[in-house]
Amino acid sequence: MSETALLVRDLIAGYEPGVPIVRGASINVHQGEIVVVLGPNGAGKSSFIKAIAGLVPVSGGTVLLDGRDITAAPAHTMVRLGLAFVPQTENVFPLMSVEDNLKVACGILKPREIPGRIAEMYATFPDLARHRRIAAGNLSGGQRQMLAVARALIVHPKVLVLDEPSAGLSPKFVSMVFEMLTEIRKGGVTILLVEQNAKAALAIGDRAYVLVEGKDRHEGVASELWNDPVVAELYLGQRPAHTKSGGAA
Ligand SMILES: Nc1ncnc2c1ncn2[C@@H]1O[C@H](COP(=O)(O)OP(=O)(O)OP(=O)(O)O)[C@@H](O)[C@H]1O
Ligand SMILES: [Mg+2]
Repeated sequence: MSETALLVRDLIAGYEPGVPIVRGASINVHQGEIVVVLGPNGAGKSSFIKAIAGLVPVSGGTVLLDGRDITAAPAHTMVRLGLAFVPQTENVFPLMSVEDNLKVACGILKPREIPGRIAEMYATFPDLARHRRIAAGNLSGGQRQMLAVARALIVHPKVLVLDEPSAGLSPKFVSMVFEMLTEIRKGGVTILLVEQNAKAALAIGDRAYVLVEGKDRHEGVASELWNDPVVAELYLGQRPAHTKSGGAA
């Protein structure tokens, strides 16, 4: 359980030369873990995981996947390297059917593997099977996230990286998404997750990091971080005393 799946050291990244948004952030994610990245708005959480996934230019630091240096590898090569990224928005093709969305996500699979793999996704996500002919744009928010995750999983990634999969969902779908992530982890996939929904994310996570101004400022066991007063007040802007157990924060 202690083998490192993803190791990020002193990552520096940004959209324009000389303007770093990610400023020396380090995390490690062990095999089979769910690790959560929290932090205030604009802290650079999305930029951080996009930089890991090759979507934001990196100017320093390293990213190792299973010990292999994948720093700044082009985004389209990441899937082959074993890292799948689910962006917060625009993560499905809205005019295409559910089934076609899955098919076009199979790029690196051998053609003969594709039907079986789609069937496996339908077995894992029966809701998608029921809606296979429906355009993705007509799915509910929760089903759309399910499709986005299935599209990422279909090529057997080692590490699944997600940006706010619960954003904009009603509480029912929020729980559905977090249950789905727990199931995916049971299947052996390592998960790195950025979330605003700190309470729900910490409830399913093993460990978490708090990112502030592009740097990891705090790290801990997920269940303990929720009760950490420094984290709650300074970084998350929430007080644990407000919340009851279960559900969304
Ligand atoms: N495409 C972009 N081009 C230039 N600057 C960007 C771009 N995307 C984000 N930024 C800037 O990077 C900084 C960090 O943004 P980022 O979206 O990474 O933060 P975040 O922690 O994910 O915030 P949120 O909680 O709102 O999702 C912000 O100052 C933002 O304006
Ligand atoms: Mg973000």
